[in-house]
Amino acid sequence: MIPQHVTIIMDGNGRWAKQKGKNRLYGHNNALESVRECCDFALHKGIKYLSLFAFSEENWNRPKEEVEGLMQLLKKAIDTETDGLIQNGIKLRVVGDLSKLPESLRNLVHQVEEKSAHNTAMTLIMMLSYSGKWDITQAVNKILAEAKEDPTVLDKPLLPADFEKYLATAGIPDPDLMIRTSGEERISNYMLW
Ligand code: IPE
Ligand code: IPE
Ligand code: MG
Repeated sequence: MIPQHVTIIMDGNGRWAKQKGKNRLYGHNNALESVRECCDFALHKGIKYLSLFAFSEENWNRPKEEVEGLMQLLKKAIDTETDGLIQNGIKLRVVGDLSKLPESLRNLVHQVEEKSAHNTAMTLIMMLSYSGKWDITQAVNKILAEAKEDPTVLDKPLLPADFEKYLATAGIPDPDLMIRTSGEERISNYMLW
């Protein structure tokens, strides 16, 4: 059976580059090719949701040059891949704390989301500046803000299906298959819900 939602924790770029005697950014830059291959594969297999953990909230703590290199790579990926995405009928959705992204990149990401909003062949989800704990916390904060406006919100206990609507991942089905490249088996604060 074809899974509906496959998610990939894209790990091991640094080690892959090191094996080749190159720096970490070389590893990140080469990952773009693998991402393209994964997308094509998922699209042709009829996988409806492919989500990629591209940058975690914790990754903001990496050295400045590496963070900047990754932001540049994201911009490059949007520049080179958007046309192909649209042609293939792929919808892009970006999930994470985008307030932390440089403004120009945030705008660019929103533009591609808008441009591809009506596509239906597959949804590609980029998890960017994302962490599972961040998502659950921001969901709780949204509920608290609503309750401040309208205290009756707190009259009934919330069911999981009610809570889910407040998550940044709302509307995306639970993953059926989680892959972590690099051979490690850690979750790294990813998709905890
Ligand atoms: C994954 O590769 C890419 C990001 C987290 C952005 P790493 O950079 O974590 O590479 P390793 O795990 O150190 O080899
Ligand atoms: C997980 O990889 C995050 C992403 C793939 C974006 P990391 O390399 O950042 O995670 P840890 O530090 O090994 O847990
Ligand atoms: Mg890693």
